[in-house]
Amino acid sequence: MKQKKSWWILIIVSLGVMTPFVLPYLNVDPANSRITITSNTIQYPLLLTHILFACAALITGFLQFVTRIRIQHPKIHRYLGRVYVMSVFISGLLALPLIFYMENFTKSLAFLTLSIVWLVTCWNGYRAAVKGRLPEHRVWMVRSFGITLVAVSARLLMPVLLLSYYILSGFSLPGGRAQMVEETLNVNIWVGLLLNFVIIEWIIVKKIKHEK
Ligand code: HEM
Repeated sequence: MKQKKSWWILIIVSLGVMTPFVLPYLNVDPANSRITITSNTIQYPLLLTHILFACAALITGFLQFVTRIRIQHPKIHRYLGRVYVMSVFISGLLALPLIFYMENFTKSLAFLTLSIVWLVTCWNGYRAAVKGRLPEHRVWMVRSFGITLVAVSARLLMPVLLLSYYILSGFSLPGGRAQMVEETLNVNIWVGLLLNFVIIEWIIVKKIKHEK
C-alpha cells in the first residue's frame, strides 16, 4: 500500500521542471509568452487553454497512481480519472492548431506525433475502463501518462541535448548559441518521446512478469 519513494521524487521533479514554464502564462499576457506569438487572434488563447488543461492532466495523472486513493477511495479515482481524460482531450486537441504556427517541419511533426499518441493512448485507456477491462485500462493509462510526461522529459533533456550538439559539432558552435538552442528545440520532443516510450514499455513488461 505504501507509495514508492521514487514516485514522490518523480512528482517533485516534474512539478519543479514545469512550474517555471507555466508561470509566465498565469497573468494572461501574450507579451510574457515564451514562444513567439505571431497572430493576435486565436494563437494565444489556444496556447493558454492548452497549458491550463495540460497542467490539470499532469496533476490528476499523478494522483491516479497514488495507491491510497486508487484502493481506498475508488469514487475519487473515477472522478479524477474523468478530469484527466477530459483534460488530455481538450489539451491534446488544442495542440493540433498550435502546430500550424510552427515554422520547422521536424518540430511540428514531433508535436503532431505527440498529440496523436497522447489522444490515442488516453482514448484506449478510457474505453477499456468503460468496458470494464481493468488490466487493459491500467496498461493504457500507464502509456497515456508516460506520454503526458514527455512534456517534462523533453525539457529535462535540454542540457544533455545542448551538450550533444556541441560535441557532435566538433566542440564548436558553427551557427552560434541561438542556432544551437533552436536546433535542439526542434528535436527534444522526438528524443523525449522515444525515451519515455522505452521506459513505459519496460515498466509494463516488468509488471506483467512480476504478476505471473
Ligand atoms: C504530451 C502532450 C502535449 C502536447 C502534444 C503538447 C503540445 C504543445 C504545443 C504544440 C505547444 C506550442 C509549442 C510551440 O509553439 O513552440 C505547447 C506549448 C506548451 N505546453 Fe504543451 N503539450 C503537451 C503536454 C504538455 C504538458 C503536460 C504541459 C504541462 C503543464 C505542457 C505545457 C506547455 C507549455 C508551458 C507550453 C508553452 C511553451 C513554453 O513556454 O515552453 N504541455 N505544447
